[in-house]
Amino acid sequence: MSETREITLTVNGTEQTIDVEPRKLLVHAIREDLDMTGTHIGCDTGNCGACTVLVDGEPLKSCLMFAVQADGSAVETVEGMEDHPDAVDDLHPLQEGFHEEHGLQCGYCTPGMIMSGKALLEDNPDPSEAEIREAISGNLCRCTGYQNIVKSIEYAADKLADGERDDAEAVAADGGVAADDGPAEFDGYDVDGDGEFSCGAENCCGGPSTDATHRGGDER
Ligand code: FES
Ligand code: FES
Repeated sequence: MSETREITLTVNGTEQTIDVEPRKLLVHAIREDLDMTGTHIGCDTGNCGACTVLVDGEPLKSCLMFAVQADGSAVETVEGMEDHPDAVDDLHPLQEGFHEEHGLQCGYCTPGMIMSGKALLEDNPDPSEAEIREAISGNLCRCTGYQNIVKSIEYAADKLADGERDDAEAVAADGGVAADDGPAEFDGYDVDGDGEFSCGAENCCGGPSTDATHRGGDER
């Protein structure tokens, strides 16, 4: 058996230490050693983007990186999206967007698309269609024709923006400081789905909704 090296990764916020062969690709370590098979392998040669994860916040094709190169890094995979602070009922707005806008067919490309979308929206919360297409240009989809994937990411951008606006309104209504005076942490989601919002206001923000109004009134 080949010599192995011990590496430590912070995967979706949890520190994980594993022994890997120096030649092992990050995508194989994620799938085989961490047993997280949400990250897909489409080509193993850097062409398809199915294996996209975030490494220290940057979207990277994990088939183009050795696991040992990621030692000490923070790795985000699609499995972590449901626990993200922006998630509602175990769905991040990007995941909800792909559901609502029919952004997938076979779903093989979807985890990589979602991680590329996440990196985009963290860097640019209000991207244009062209910017979305640029951001996912390294992710191939053989099913959808991309249009609904673009809509899915637009949906998430709208939903995340709604959350920020609603949060600012709730803070202002509570006598606090509005968003214009600085960013405020959003905690208004009904995370349990029980109809009670953590901000204390009734149905003000983030409740499960599929109507056009909640999405900014834009029927796409
Ligand atoms: S599996 Fe990594 S780019 Fe295709
Ligand atoms: S949904 Fe099938 S490859 Fe994208």
